[in-house]
Amino acid sequence: MKTVLVTGGAGYIGSFTVKELLDQDYKVVVLDSLENGHLEAVDTRASLEVVDIADKEKVRAVFNKYTIDAVIDFAAYLAVGESMEQPVKYMKNNVENFVGLLDVMREHGCRYIIKSSTASTYGNPPEDKYFPLKESYHEIYHPSQSALLSGKWDNEGFAGEEFFQKVVGYYNEFVSDRPELSLTDADLAMLRVPASIYGLTKMFDEIILDKYDQLYGVASISLRYFNVCGAALNGEIGEDKPNPTTLMTVTFWHILGRIPELQVFGNDYPTKDGTGVRDYIHPLDLATGHIAALRYLEKTRKSEVFNLGTGDGYSVLDVIYAVEKACGKTVKYSIKPRQSGDPAVSYADPSKAKMLLGWRARYDLADMANTAWKWHSNHPRGYIKNTANKAV
Ligand SMILES: NC(=O)c1ccc[n+]([C@@H]2O[C@H](COP(=O)([O-])OP(=O)(O)OC[C@H]3O[C@@H](n4cnc5c(N)ncnc54)[C@H](O)[C@@H]3O)[C@@H](O)[C@H]2O)c1
Repeated sequence: MKTVLVTGGAGYIGSFTVKELLDQDYKVVVLDSLENGHLEAVDTRASLEVVDIADKEKVRAVFNKYTIDAVIDFAAYLAVGESMEQPVKYMKNNVENFVGLLDVMREHGCRYIIKSSTASTYGNPPEDKYFPLKESYHEIYHPSQSALLSGKWDNEGFAGEEFFQKVVGYYNEFVSDRPELSLTDADLAMLRVPASIYGLTKMFDEIILDKYDQLYGVASISLRYFNVCGAALNGEIGEDKPNPTTLMTVTFWHILGRIPELQVFGNDYPTKDGTGVRDYIHPLDLATGHIAALRYLEKTRKSEVFNLGTGDGYSVLDVIYAVEKACGKTVKYSIKPRQSGDPAVSYADPSKAKMLLGWRARYDLADMANTAWKWHSNHPRGYIKNTANKAV
């Protein structure tokens, strides 16, 4: 595969993968609306097309302009809290626009796609026996009711199965003239697992990809990333979101005075220090994971799902200590009660990616914190170049 279209390539994780692809001699076309991406994050060796995937004609024009051999699709909305308040916004961008992209690919004979998925598709596993999480989790755990936490639909509050049925009704209407995309009982069982609308939209995407393989021969790899943090080794690209939610980024923002208070939710979990334990992964490791997935797909044409995580669990306090060590400052935080639905521990079993892709994470928590500090301390206001804005 020579030319790869990277949607969302101006965003955080996409920009790292674009660089790695270029370093590995792929030609790269970045397609991004720049709604949440940054021009400065796009490697100048790549071609950039500023297009919203919602505009199918413009996406078609990109496929007419270049011969695209494969797509790596990062474009999505990903704020869990916002997804619970604005589910339709998430269904439109993460599911409907995604189907539109697949259709344009199909029209142009492009039959390979690597898709960003997420650990949020695992929801909140009810028992410790499910950890470390394996890709086959949805085959062994089938809740009878949806795990969706509370949110809003048409400004009215909903949770669980009632909320779920609203979302499924919306999808059914969207595919009403395409019975081949309707949901089976097995699909619905998988869709009941995620606890957030964001996770649910990504589960929809994985299911849709499975259907596109069976119906149209589009081979795909969905990569379920765990919590992503860290920046380029030289600190030149990193995470710049208006309202970050990742613990490490929030902690650095607190250090830089951009967030007044740092809150730790729960210090009474059955973990080594009482705080929640999660799996963290560096975007440089994700970049090599995407290229390994692309090569696997080219070789086997076999659709798969892989976890991309380190397989190591780090507690909230581990992350705070790593940040303190990286920047040489003390982090002040307050302890708040646990947040509903947050599991004590969540970490990946990355052995499938190791076995089939020959991939493993190289960077640990200290690397993530050291590189992130390099990025944040050099760009305290993110990609904004204006030095007046750099004062914090
Ligand atoms: N950051 C994480 O911790 C994390 C964890 C798991 C999965 N993911 C997934 O990885 C992907 C990338 O995440 P990120 O952190 O880089 O996010 P990001 O917001 O930095 O990047 C997403 C990019 O997609 C673009 N985009 C969104 N909708 C678009 C549309 N309709 N048309 C064109 N461009 C559009 C945005 O402008 C942005 O540049 C997402 O799909 C996300 O769900 C991220």
